[in-house]
Amino acid sequence: MSEHLTVVDHPLIQHKLTIMRDKTTSTNSFRRLLREISHLLAYEITRDLPMTTVSIETPMERMDAPAIEGKKLALVSILRAGNGLLDGILELVPAARVGFVGLYRDEQTLQPVQYYCKLPDGLEDRLVIAVDPMLATGNSSAAAIDLLKQAGAKNIRFLCLLAAPEGVARMKELHPDVPVITAAVDNQLDDHGYIVPGLGDAGDRMFGTK
Ligand code: URA
Repeated sequence: MSEHLTVVDHPLIQHKLTIMRDKTTSTNSFRRLLREISHLLAYEITRDLPMTTVSIETPMERMDAPAIEGKKLALVSILRAGNGLLDGILELVPAARVGFVGLYRDEQTLQPVQYYCKLPDGLEDRLVIAVDPMLATGNSSAAAIDLLKQAGAKNIRFLCLLAAPEGVARMKELHPDVPVITAAVDNQLDDHGYIVPGLGDAGDRMFGTK
């Protein structure tokens, strides 16, 4: 993946995203749609994985069949909203290793504060996909990528559902080597660091909190 930003504008993704944005959409539907979109995004983000062949025997004959090469992927969820994307991707890539980074945003400074970090071994040899539905200011995302790099990760991708131009620019500035894959880039951030038009607080909408 050579582009810094990929917007996956597949009609199914865009249609489902519109329903997610609608403030009348229930928690239940929001969660289901996020899981469905995460399948479609996972398809896109894994499209160029290196392949090898394995020798198997079908009921008819022996064949060299295609298989994904190398160590298992690592998925890293940026808590808590990242878990919504993580669950769907894990359904498609069930053997992936999984890590969690907990960062909350100080509402005054909008800067990330770390409260949890648990990462799989061998990150240096894996494709690491960091997931968070919302790339807003980019501060938390960039801080999470810092942690992954400190832990040895060299091949990282950042997957989100919605991005603000400010967040994309921040990631490009701080982590130009990390491709960002998203379903849409919205207009801007508001004064509280929320994406507009956006979909509100992804974690609250996913978990039914306020
Ligand atoms: N986090 C969210 O959940 N929503 C935003 O709009 C920005 C950050």
